[in-house]
Amino acid sequence: MTRLSVNINKIATLRNARGGNIPDLLKATADCQSFGAQGITVHPRPDERHIHYQDVKDIKPLITTEFNIEGYPSDRFLKLVLPVKPHQVTLVPDLPGVLTSSAGWDTIKNKSFLKDVIGILQNEGIRTSIFVDTKLQIIENAIDTGTNRIELYTEPYASKYHNNREEAIKPFCIAAEKANELGLELNAGHDLNLDNLTFFVQKIPSLKEVSIGHALISDALYFGLENTIQMYLRKIKMASQKI
Ligand code: PXP
Repeated sequence: MTRLSVNINKIATLRNARGGNIPDLLKATADCQSFGAQGITVHPRPDERHIHYQDVKDIKPLITTEFNIEGYPSDRFLKLVLPVKPHQVTLVPDLPGVLTSSAGWDTIKNKSFLKDVIGILQNEGIRTSIFVDTKLQIIENAIDTGTNRIELYTEPYASKYHNNREEAIKPFCIAAEKANELGLELNAGHDLNLDNLTFFVQKIPSLKEVSIGHALISDALYFGLENTIQMYLRKIKMASQKI
């Protein structure tokens, strides 16, 4: 079944607003896992406005599920993640200062760069995933980078979901089929939420993992963190039961 990895960047953002330790990110990490999260995702950005680099080191010993670190593979990022040895590193092509990840890799232009970085990570036993959109050429070229997985950038699905979900999912189903054919494992993320998650997982049953942050942490304001994680897990379960 598709695993739910909770992206805790938003909890760090809230903490950073006052400079103290409320909410406690390390407690939230442990709690997310005891409430049912099957993975923890962090995205340390170069300016550390959400997750601090030190947070990544502090979180590692608390992980009982799967640790996924996302980020642009700068020298500084690699220096951070290599000794931490998370289960997975998801490479994103973000330029410094972007608000959020808003595009996938060009796997043609960046092929040799990605190949080098992926080699370095895999040598340390770290699984790699690269953030991509649904263009078939991009996915076909991803295989040459040696990556284990790709993460489909789901914002275009989420933004079209309410108008026409069948149209919205189409390019993702085609992309998933291509990835399956090439032997690339599949993750997905960005703007997934309680409304659009079940349909996405139902249509792409080969999906290994979704990472969800913004909507989940926002829902937790209303439903509480434990309930919210359980609600997301139920949405994933419903997909496999074709409810
Ligand atoms: N995947 C990647 C690569 C991301 O950068 C983000 C946002 O940090 C997510 C998934 C999660 O997106 P959201 O916060 O919209 O759930």
